[in-house]
Amino acid sequence: MAHSALSAFVALASLTLVAGQTTPAPAAPNTQPTFPATPLSDIPVTYSDIPYQVITSTYARGTQSGYNLCNSTTQNQNSECQTLIVNSIFDFCLYAPGQPNSTISDTEGEEVAWCTTKNHGSRGIPPGTFTGLQVLRTADYLQFVGFINQANVNIQPGDFGGELDGGGQDGLGNPIGAEVFSTAFSSDNSTYQHTSQWNVFIGGNQVGIKVCNPAGSNPAGYCQHTLDRIGLIYNMPNQAANGTFEVCDSAPMDIPGVYTSGGQTLSYSQPAESLGPITSIPYTPRIPSSSNCQTYQSSQIFTDFASLAPSTTAASPTGTGASKNSGTRAGSAASASATGSNGAGTVTISLFSTILGVAFSFAFLA
Ligand SMILES: *[C@@H]1O[C@H](CO)[C@@H](O)[C@H](O)[C@H]1NC(C)=O
Ligand SMILES: *[C@@H]1O[C@H](CO)[C@@H](O)[C@H](O)[C@H]1NC(C)=O
Ligand SMILES: *[C@@H]1O[C@H](CO)[C@@H](O)[C@H](O)[C@H]1NC(C)=O
Ligand SMILES: *[C@@H]1O[C@H](CO)[C@@H](O)[C@H](O)[C@H]1NC(C)=O
Repeated sequence: MAHSALSAFVALASLTLVAGQTTPAPAAPNTQPTFPATPLSDIPVTYSDIPYQVITSTYARGTQSGYNLCNSTTQNQNSECQTLIVNSIFDFCLYAPGQPNSTISDTEGEEVAWCTTKNHGSRGIPPGTFTGLQVLRTADYLQFVGFINQANVNIQPGDFGGELDGGGQDGLGNPIGAEVFSTAFSSDNSTYQHTSQWNVFIGGNQVGIKVCNPAGSNPAGYCQHTLDRIGLIYNMPNQAANGTFEVCDSAPMDIPGVYTSGGQTLSYSQPAESLGPITSIPYTPRIPSSSNCQTYQSSQIFTDFASLAPSTTAASPTGTGASKNSGTRAGSAASASATGSNGAGTVTISLFSTILGVAFSFAFLA
């Protein structure tokens, strides 16, 4: 969007300079830099001093489509707030598209925040969106895995989605300018900390959100984003069950991609997209043991927006628009396991749907 406007302007300017010439001017090359001088995740931002936008320049992929300074005046269903708050099962946000019937791969650079409360200047998550949710608390990270009706948050039915994180293909984040804060790791449970290591898998009617403790043992490891194509279950092993809403204490997961075989610790790297669909993965992730689970009714959690209608109308066309990058991340957000009982175990159902999701994403993006 920003690009086509710029190209049109440049084309118009050159036509004016060579008045009389009838051959259309060639499209202007994209001369914007690809990478920022400082990657988004290295830009220090404090909760008390959030700028209007954290990304203020134009890059090859575009500009920041929304804003980070979110308050009561931006709390509505057209909000373009791109600051994500992830505090607890009662108070969290996810990233999803601003316009109805969007795919994640088409809109990864411009997702907006949808929250459970009115406190964060964002859109509200409509009632009935979540049909199950497991929150796992560890000293190193806080993880949410839920079953959702994704059309409620503007995701096209059938879209297997993908992964969003603070890095992205160029260090600008997905969405561009994403900022994530949490009170979960502060000693008083109420101080907001900048959690620049995080990721979100969304699509396939599931969502996974993980924020890593900035003072934890390995925030970049637990929240790494190099395994976007192998899906939620490899990145966020869990025992979420559709129909159950619970918060549990959890042992830490294995660092995603690290596994043991024959007594050796091995490391899996995801093959490049150019090598085609991933057809086998040499391990299944271990689900960490969990304890102290407290269960809730969804009506106890999703209180602020209990009477909100699902999103059906187009949002206002504000924002400068981040354009989609051709090298977009594919990948399946599916799937979580639903074994019902807690305790250490292995994944039983995920691989097939993950592979299908990857294949689907490839077909879609080809
Ligand atoms: C509220 O947020 C909007 C949008 O970011 C911003 O323009 C405005 O200055 C903010 N208001 C306050 C009081 O911070
Ligand atoms: C959503 O988008 C798909 C693909 O473009 C289209 O086939 C479908 O009709 C759209 N649905 C609605 C409700 O607009
Ligand atoms: C913070 O939350 C934890 C877990 O709910 C609780 O055990 C602890 O007492 C809380 N600390 C404070 C200072 O409220
Ligand atoms: C979760 O359960 C609901 C029924 O309560 C069902 O409609 C939905 O398809 C299920 N979601 C998934 C992802 O299986």
